Amino acid sequence: MSKDSKKIILTNQPSSSSSSSLGTPLPINNRFTPLSPFSSRPRSSTPISVRPPYSSRNNTNRGHQPPGRLGLPVIGQSIGLLRALKADRVEEWFQQRITNHGPVWKASLFGYPTVVLHGPTANKFIYTCDGNLLTNTQPPSISRILGSKNIIELSGNDHKRVRTALVSFLKLEVLKQYVAKVDQEVQHHLLTHWHGKHEVQVQPLIKILTFNIICSLVIGIERGPKRDKMLPLFQDMIEGVLSVPINLPFTQFRRGIKARKKLVPMILHLIREKKEALKEHNQQTDPHKDLITSLLSICDDHSSKTMSEEEIIDNIITVMVAGYDTTSVLLTFLVKLLANNKAVYSAIVKEQEETARSKAYEEALTWEDLVKMKYTWRVATEMLRINPPVNLSFRRAKQDIEYGGFIIPKGWQVLISASMTHMDDSIFKDPTMFDPTRFEKHAPSPPPFSFVAFGGGPRMCPGTELAKIETLVMMHRLVTRFTWELLKKDESFKRVPMPEFDHGLLVQLKSLKETMNAAI
Ligand code: HEM
Repeated sequence: MSKDSKKIILTNQPSSSSSSSLGTPLPINNRFTPLSPFSSRPRSSTPISVRPPYSSRNNTNRGHQPPGRLGLPVIGQSIGLLRALKADRVEEWFQQRITNHGPVWKASLFGYPTVVLHGPTANKFIYTCDGNLLTNTQPPSISRILGSKNIIELSGNDHKRVRTALVSFLKLEVLKQYVAKVDQEVQHHLLTHWHGKHEVQVQPLIKILTFNIICSLVIGIERGPKRDKMLPLFQDMIEGVLSVPINLPFTQFRRGIKARKKLVPMILHLIREKKEALKEHNQQTDPHKDLITSLLSICDDHSSKTMSEEEIIDNIITVMVAGYDTTSVLLTFLVKLLANNKAVYSAIVKEQEETARSKAYEEALTWEDLVKMKYTWRVATEMLRINPPVNLSFRRAKQDIEYGGFIIPKGWQVLISASMTHMDDSIFKDPTMFDPTRFEKHAPSPPPFSFVAFGGGPRMCPGTELAKIETLVMMHRLVTRFTWELLKKDESFKRVPMPEFDHGLLVQLKSLKETMNAAI
C-alpha cells in the first residue's frame, strides 16, 4: 500500500499545559493555541474562550469566521469529501484546504456548516472539551440510523450513565472470560469459510466473523438463521450512517433507515425474551452472559433499572455498528500487510508459534496467551496509525467559541481527521513507513493526543479491549493454519465511509497442513 502520495506536514503540537492524562476534562479557560506553518494568515495565540451568546448587538464585535467557503446548502462540500473518501484521497483533500486556508477552516459538510481543525491540540480540544462547549451531536444521518438515545450523542450525566453500563460489560476483567468464546467463533469461522478453499475474499469473510463475534457477545444470539437475517441489515445501516442525509428512494440514507426499521422489532423481541428469562430465574441469570442481559441487570442506587428499552435498543445497535466494521477493517489490512511484508510476517509467525507450541491444535486460547503477543499488537497498533478505521470525529459548538483567533459559531459542526495527525512527520518520523518499533515499550512516546485511532478522553472507544482480543485471536489462528498470497498485487480500497477493498482483498490460500504434506 503506497502512502507516498499522501505526505502531510503538520506541526501543530499541543501546548505543554495539554499533557494532562487522558480523560481529564479541560477547564474552559485552558489555552489552545494552534500554530500554523501553512498560511500567511494571521494567527493569534488567543486561548479558546466562550463569547456571550450570539446576538445582533454582539455581532459587530465578533471575531472572524475561519477562512474557506460553505458552498451549497445541505450538500455543501459533502460530495467532494465523499468522493475523496471513496478514492482513498482524503488526506490530500484535507491537505489542499490546509494549504489554502491554514489549519482552521470552514466548509459545509453532511448538512451543517463545519469548522475543520488539525493537530494534537485540536484532537485534545475535541476529545476532552467540556460538554457545555462542544456537544457530540453527529451528522443527521448518524442519529437517524443509530437512534436518538445512542451513546455517541448523549452528554453529561446521561452519557456517563449509559457509558458506565456499557463498560460494565466491555471492561477487560469481564472480557477476559470471553477469550475462549471468541476463539471458538474464530475456529468455527475458519473451518467453515477458509479451510479447503484456494481463493478467498478476505474482507467480506472477516466482516462475517466480527459480526458473529459481536452477535454472540453483545446480543447473545448463537449461529443460525436469526443471525444470518441481521447481517445484511447491519451492512445497510453502516452505509447509511455517513451518507448525505437525503431521504429519497435508492439513496444509501433511505436504505439505512429502512434497515433500522426492520432491526428494531428484532432487538426488542430479544430484550423481552431476556427480561422474561431474568424474571423466571429470579434475576439469577449471569448478568455477563451478553451485553443485553448485562444492561437489563444493572440497577441504580435506588434499585430501579438504569436504562429504558429504547435506550437499550439504540445502544445495542450503536455498539454493533461501532464494533463490527472497525475491527474487520483492521484485520483485513493486517492480512494484506502480512502478504507484502516478509519481515513483519516472520516476526509474527515466530511469536505465534511460541504460543501454539504450548497448546494442543484446537485448545482454546486464554487471556494469558494473548498477553504474550506483544509484537503482534504493536503491528496492529502501527496499522491503526497508518489506516485508522475511524478517521473523522465530529462535535457541535454549543456556544460561540474562539479558537486560534477565529470564531466557531454556536450550532456549527467541528471536525478532525485522525489520519492527518497520524501522518504528521513532526510527530511520527517518516510517517508513511510501516514501523511497529514506534510503539515499543522503550521508544519515545508520541505527544498526548497524536495517536488517536481509538479517540481519547471520556469518550475514548470502550471497545478497545474487545478489538484487541478479536485481533490477536484471529492473527494467531490465521498464521498458524494458513499461508496466503495476494491475487491482485496492490489491490486498492475506497472509504464508504469505512475502507472497502475493490475486490474484497482477494488472496490465494494454502492450508499449512497442505504445505507441510507437499514438502514431505
Ligand atoms: C479497531 C477497532 C476500533 C476502532 C479503531 C474504534 C475507534 C473508535 C473511536 C475513534 C471512537 C471515538 C470517536 C469520537 O470520539 O468521535 C470510538 C468510540 C466508540 N466505540 Fe470504538 N473502535 C473500535 C472497536 C470498537 C468495538 C469492538 C466496540 C464495541 C464492542 C466499539 C464501540 C464504541 C462505542 C460504543 C463508542 C462511543 C463511545 C462514547 O461516545 O462514549 N468500538 N471508537
